[in-house]
Amino acid sequence: MNSSPWWKEATIYQIYPRSFFDSNGDGEGDLPGVTSKLDYVKSLGVDAIWLSPFYTSPNKDGGYDVANPRDVDPRFGNLDDAKELITQAHKQDLRVIADIVPNHFSDQHEWFQAALKAGRGSRERQRFHFYDANEDGTPPNNWISLFGGPSWTQVEDGQFYLHLFDSSQPDLNWDNPEVNEDFEKTLRFWIDLGVDGFRIDVAHGLVKEDVLKNHPDPQGLSNALRLDVAMDSDERNALLLTVPYFDRQGVHEIYRKWRKLFDSYGDRNIMAVAEAWVHPPVNATRYVRADELHQVFNFDLLTAEFDADVLYDVVEQSISLNATVNALPTWALSNHDSPRVASRIGDEQARALALFVFGLPGSTYVFAGQELGLPDGQLQDSDRQDPTFFRTNGGIKGRDGARVPLPWSGNTSPFGFSTGKPWLPISQSWKDLTVESELVDPKSSLHLYKNALELRKEFLVGSGGITWLESSQHGSKSNSLLSYARGAVTVVMNLSDSAQECEANGKLVVVSSGTVDARDGKKVIPPHSTAWFLA
Ligand code: GLC
Ligand code: CA
Repeated sequence: MNSSPWWKEATIYQIYPRSFFDSNGDGEGDLPGVTSKLDYVKSLGVDAIWLSPFYTSPNKDGGYDVANPRDVDPRFGNLDDAKELITQAHKQDLRVIADIVPNHFSDQHEWFQAALKAGRGSRERQRFHFYDANEDGTPPNNWISLFGGPSWTQVEDGQFYLHLFDSSQPDLNWDNPEVNEDFEKTLRFWIDLGVDGFRIDVAHGLVKEDVLKNHPDPQGLSNALRLDVAMDSDERNALLLTVPYFDRQGVHEIYRKWRKLFDSYGDRNIMAVAEAWVHPPVNATRYVRADELHQVFNFDLLTAEFDADVLYDVVEQSISLNATVNALPTWALSNHDSPRVASRIGDEQARALALFVFGLPGSTYVFAGQELGLPDGQLQDSDRQDPTFFRTNGGIKGRDGARVPLPWSGNTSPFGFSTGKPWLPISQSWKDLTVESELVDPKSSLHLYKNALELRKEFLVGSGGITWLESSQHGSKSNSLLSYARGAVTVVMNLSDSAQECEANGKLVVVSSGTVDARDGKKVIPPHSTAWFLA
């Protein structure tokens, strides 16, 4: 038996429930839909699922606007369905991670409704950030919402409330102990229902400072925080050091309390992973100090170019920074907030990068559909639902492209996802990307993921750190190859668009695309491809 806890080097499969599988023909995925596909999930070789929010919600921000964190939205089913999903997952030895959203509630949450009614100065308003307007009638400060537009919305009696995201997502006031009490109740609620861990949404955002001060450059800051806005990296980094509402010291007190709560469940090994976009990168390690959370997402691979120097730096930095707090890194190539990796860097490159990352120490996150090599869905503006699109008057298209439902089977859209009309259209061009068609194609992305995840478990998990074998920083012939050894496996990625020779020893066990040839005692790695060799 492996003595390290289940989450240490897990592969975690992110399910966006609305887009996974629709069990009742209303066009939206739901919890019974997830339960009915657990065999498939298990067959991928993953250890756990992370479910994006399925709580009661008006769904203004894909369920990250929570109106009741201790209940299930009817569009996804009910609490019995959640219980059944967890039970069935556990039967398959799959852990379940729920998404908890502590930075804000929905404006439909009973607390916010009560705050609106109770009026200025009331106890009900103290749970949020309500302030009077400035004398000239303007909002209390000049912060810009992460979804565009002002961070403040005015209510009938003239006060404003703070919302870092959509106006339907009022930020909670974490200086008020009632807020933490309520969240601890929510954590216990889901742990008692059986979940094994939490993904903490906007974990770096809970505590605000200087709420009444203007920022010197709110538009610059807003651009710096948006990965879809190009900016000189020195300028971006300088601005990111000035965010008054992220990564304040107070957040760590919250996670220390939560850690005690998790640990009180003893050998249930409850874990938590923080979504924390912080700067400089070393700050991320604070979230995974021994008495805080278990993992923090590293988002660098969501934006990194397919370039040896860049990827070397990302991997090296993440491993070494985490090591300073005795934690292991996490790796994610896609999620529900960013363009899908196949669209961002190309199909072959995405496969190569996945295979490269699957060999690394730490936990790896796979966003449902990534295993199929899905690209972003091409959408008409009239299909879009992301609040970013509306709050920027269409200036920023938003994240719907990554959220298009999964194609399961058959030759015609919606490919078995639903018997009804899917909530976002699935392109007919995805015909060869369905689970059914990839299962019969030994060269498919799906086969690669299954093979690789099985080999990872067999030969790599638990086998310690990596040794770089070849990189521009480590005496390689060129910038084309990036290579490391770990345990008995040598991993070689060819980033260039031509075949490259390398001197890796051992027997080829998997290659992400193309075939590896031998020439003069050397191995020839195909373009845009990664290979694993077993000693
Ligand atoms: C997180 C979620 C994102 C959501 C935002 C506000 O970044 O991943 O989908 O819009 O928080 O809750
Ligand atoms: Ca449904």
